[in-house]
Amino acid sequence: MAFLEIDSLNAFYGKAQALHDVSVQVEAGEIIAIVGANGAGKSTLLDSIMGLTTVTGDVRLDNESLAGKRSAEIVASGVGYAPERFNLFPYMSVEDNLLVGAYTARDDIDKNLATVNKLFPRLKERRKQETSTQSGGERQMVSLGRALMTSPRLLLVDEPTIGLAPKVCVEISEALQKMRDELGATIVITEQNANFAMTLAERLYVLESGVIKAQGTVDELRGDSRLTEAYFGH
Ligand SMILES: Nc1ncnc2c1ncn2[C@@H]1O[C@H](COP(=O)(O)OP(=O)(O)O)[C@@H](O)[C@H]1O
Ligand SMILES: [Mg+2]
Repeated sequence: MAFLEIDSLNAFYGKAQALHDVSVQVEAGEIIAIVGANGAGKSTLLDSIMGLTTVTGDVRLDNESLAGKRSAEIVASGVGYAPERFNLFPYMSVEDNLLVGAYTARDDIDKNLATVNKLFPRLKERRKQETSTQSGGERQMVSLGRALMTSPRLLLVDEPTIGLAPKVCVEISEALQKMRDELGATIVITEQNANFAMTLAERLYVLESGVIKAQGTVDELRGDSRLTEAYFGH
C-alpha cells in the first residue's frame, strides 16, 4: 500500500467529466509530477485530492480514506496545498499570509514559521511587504511557505514554475527538494513544463484530456512521444 493511493478517480463539473479513471500511487518520500497541457485536468486532480470537486473513486493517505472529508479535515490530516495562482491575500503582508496558512496547526506556528524563514530567507527580510508588490517567484515562495505552515506530510503544488524565469525555477526546485530531504514531505507537483518536471521528479504521470496516458520513471519516459504531446497539447 503506497503512502498516497488515488484509485479510479472520476471528477465532474456538472455533467462534464474532467477526470476519467485516474489512478496514481506515490510512495512516502517521493517527488512525482503530473505533466499535461493546459486543460488536461491537473488542477482538477489536486482540487479533487483536497475534496474541492465532485468525484467518484477513492483517495487514501497513509491507508486512511479522504473521500467525503471536508477540505479543512484533509489539511488537518496532513495535506498541504499550494494552488494555481497562489490565492494569496494581495494587500496583506508576507507574514500575515503565512499565518493564515497556520489556522489548522496552532501548536506549531512558531516552529513552522522558523522553518519557512530558513528555507526562504528572502521572505523573512520582506515579511512586512504586501504580496501584491512582490515578484512572481516571491509569491510562489509565499504560497509554498503557507502550505508548509500546516505541517504537511503530503505537499501538493500546482504548476510551481508557471510564468517564472529559468533562474527562479531553479530556486523553487531547490526549495522543493529541501522540503522533501529535510522536512520529509512527500511531494506531488503538476507541470506543463516537462523539462522542469524531469529535473525535479523521480516519476512522472502524463495526463491528457483527463486520462493518464503514460507513467514511469524519468529515464523510462525520456524521449517518449506521449510526454512531448502532452507538453505541446494537441
Ligand atoms: N470550475 C470549473 N467548471 C467547469 N469546468 C471546469 C472548471 N474547472 C476546470 N474545468 C474544466 O475541466 C478541464 C480540466 O481543467 P483543469 O483541471 O483546470 O486543467 P489544467 O489545470 O490541466 O489546465 C477543462 O476542460 C476545464 O475547462
Ligand atoms: Mg491548472
